[in-house]
Amino acid sequence: MKILVVGGGGREHALVWRLTQSTKVEKLWCAPGNGGTASDGESIPVDVGDVAALIAIAHKLQPDLTVIGPELPLVHGIADAFRAQKWPIVAPLRQAAQLEGSKIFSKDFLERHNLPTAKGYGAYDAARQAYAALETVEWPLVIKADGLCAGKGVLVTEDKQEARDFIARGMEKNELGAGGKRILLEEALEGEELSFILLTDGRRWAPMVPTRDHKRAFDGNEGPNTGGMGAYSTDDLLPPALRETIINTIVEPTMRGLAADGIPYQGFLYIGLMLTKSGPKILEFNCRLGDPEAQAIVARMDFDLAEVLADVAAGRLDPEKLKWRPGASVCLVLASGGYPGKFEAGKRISGLTDAEEAGQAKVLHAGTTRQSAENGGGIVTSGGRVLGITAARPTLDAALAAVYQAATKIHFDGMHYRKDIGAYTAPLLGKVAGSKDL
Ligand code: AMP
Ligand code: GLY
Repeated sequence: MKILVVGGGGREHALVWRLTQSTKVEKLWCAPGNGGTASDGESIPVDVGDVAALIAIAHKLQPDLTVIGPELPLVHGIADAFRAQKWPIVAPLRQAAQLEGSKIFSKDFLERHNLPTAKGYGAYDAARQAYAALETVEWPLVIKADGLCAGKGVLVTEDKQEARDFIARGMEKNELGAGGKRILLEEALEGEELSFILLTDGRRWAPMVPTRDHKRAFDGNEGPNTGGMGAYSTDDLLPPALRETIINTIVEPTMRGLAADGIPYQGFLYIGLMLTKSGPKILEFNCRLGDPEAQAIVARMDFDLAEVLADVAAGRLDPEKLKWRPGASVCLVLASGGYPGKFEAGKRISGLTDAEEAGQAKVLHAGTTRQSAENGGGIVTSGGRVLGITAARPTLDAALAAVYQAATKIHFDGMHYRKDIGAYTAPLLGKVAGSKDL
């Protein structure tokens, strides 16, 4: 198989890395890729939101399979375009991607199918009405911009003035872009979060191992939110009784709801859950693998990913094929100084080979570039989240020891990382939730 992976972050390096281990894979491209994917496959420069450019690339390369990492091409209809050409692709159609692309669409879906979720206080397209609604809601409150907002679209707050300011930024000052013109108000749920990600061909589905990410920048869940500073997976995250509840009250009804609405879903579906005192509730859907959740998931895969993804694209997923390494995995993100705020790129990275040897861990790249020979070669930083050191072990402690040992070998100017991956994650009260890379 010749496979094209679209995206250039840690999630895509994780996919490429696992795909290189398949005996069925003869050629890999990653568009645009990064300094790490470049060692495992050929990089093809592209703007991932540009569906026409991606079609031109696929037309030229004729891959046997295309796998989409990030949300932007999905929301822009990449799957529809590929299906029209009968090109095999692992990606939901544009309409299905609205589950992530429009929080109002998603909330309507949740309510229409009586899925467990936060109580909604309405969707608004006029600021005046949104301000008026603040007088009747319960606090704390969650405000969500409807569209994709580069991760700045959710506020959890107890403070009415903070709520008014957020609404003003989105609806009156246009600071969140088109995605912030309409907003949704809902109840703030309390509990621990869990990422339940599944892979489906539209008829059958198979779960990934459960994961949890760490969104705040600093230890003890301090500081601003980020795209994720690390993630871990253990089977203990999802005890059998909770797993049953999630399958019966969340996953199966979601699948039935999609079928009933005539929204065929093919690809990864990320169900973001809050484990509340009254049971698991859906916070959000993403129509893709999480990042850095994907790195922790891929590390535990014990099956041929190329074969399973080809099955999904062909509509013949066999859930029995997905086998997992028992125990645990961890992905530790090494970030640029200043991230998630302003940071400088172009910092030389040292110790990459030593790190893999020292920790027996895999260093997955995200914001990195390979420099040209004239510039001295080597790998330099090019993004906020730079590397994700990843390891799977029989226990969480052993996986943590491996990634933290590996991290001591790596250096770049300004590098920072959390020292408490794998520990309890507190709710996100008072902060803009879920900021992605700037
Ligand atoms: P995003 O990925 O931008 O949709 O942000 C989602 C994040 O916002 C989640 O991971 C939660 O941390 C937070 N969040 C969303 N909805 C709620 C809610 N109803 N109650 C509490 N936190 C929420
Ligand atoms: N790590 C959260 C996300 O990918 O949305």
